[in-house]
Amino acid sequence: MLCLGIESTAHTVGVGVARQQDKTEILANVNSSYSPSIGGIHPREAAEHHVKALPELMEKSIEAAGIEFEDLDVISFAKGPGLGPCLRVGATAARTLALTLKKPIIGVNHCIAHIEIGKMTMGCKSPVMLYVSGGNTQVISYRQKRYRIMGETLDIGIGNLLDKFGRQFSIPFPCGPRIEELARTGKKMLDLPYSVKGMDVSFSGILTSLSTLSGEKLEDLCFSLQETAFAMLVEVTERAMAYLEKDELLLGGGVASNQRLREMCSIMAKERGAGAFVPKGQYCVDNGAMIALLGLLMKDQASSDLDRTKVNQNFRADEVEVTWL
Ligand code: ATP
Ligand code: FE2
Repeated sequence: MLCLGIESTAHTVGVGVARQQDKTEILANVNSSYSPSIGGIHPREAAEHHVKALPELMEKSIEAAGIEFEDLDVISFAKGPGLGPCLRVGATAARTLALTLKKPIIGVNHCIAHIEIGKMTMGCKSPVMLYVSGGNTQVISYRQKRYRIMGETLDIGIGNLLDKFGRQFSIPFPCGPRIEELARTGKKMLDLPYSVKGMDVSFSGILTSLSTLSGEKLEDLCFSLQETAFAMLVEVTERAMAYLEKDELLLGGGVASNQRLREMCSIMAKERGAGAFVPKGQYCVDNGAMIALLGLLMKDQASSDLDRTKVNQNFRADEVEVTWL
């Protein structure tokens, strides 16, 4: 069984191929990211990038997998959550491919795809996932046929906080890596709003507060931002792990590249006697392979009914009944 999956929820467009035989494996994962020349992601510009990039990415993925288009059994795409114009590019390409090849198609949840690729590549069984990207910040875990959102940001995503803050200092998008570098030499811990509500977090107060601290060194702002925001994330993740009695923590999303966040998560997990898992870079960020993998897991729900392939910008993980676990 072979599935080709298309990811296009935000600034990355990607195509992956996954195969299920005796075991499940990723045969191809090719991706291309749009980066704005100035400012943040412009959804229409990102969508135009995806339209241009997709034909070549599709060819490359088939070549890398060592198969022909006709060998595919099912086509999947990320149905949401994400930016409307970007989502529609991936959905349209997937519909076209499915119709041409006369194969069934399935729209899958992007957040669940992050969890499943993390589980598969890291070998963990039933983790609490801390999913931290530009647009998403959620603590998710499986319980009774659903991936439950235990906690989440009540306003902006953690990556979005970093990018918005960075933009004020002309740091090019994506700002996370540069902020991480600057934070390494920061020493002074500035007082920023620590906003945890149960298992939810809120970041916009930090952003506002940072803009009032103009006399402080940029290194100290970055340091304090990371220490405060990451501590909030670790706190809610730990609360979810304690509540659900889980002993695996899985990180995912672009912000999971951050060494300081990884370190804080590892310390927390170790103190609880739990394992901490961080997928390889290409499987942490948005990628086509995870969409192909979830397409395979959900292949029984694929169909030729195109009415079921509408994108959903606010698609939540807990809307999906998990039939494959
Ligand atoms: P999604 O649709 O899942 O929200 P996205 O477009 O935000 O995806 P990702 O690649 O998952 O894509 O994440 C990008 C975010 O990760 C950006 O906000 C970027 O600043 C942040 N980021 C990347 N590297 C680092 C790092 N080393 N430290 C902190 N943040 C980082
Ligand atoms: Fe993502």
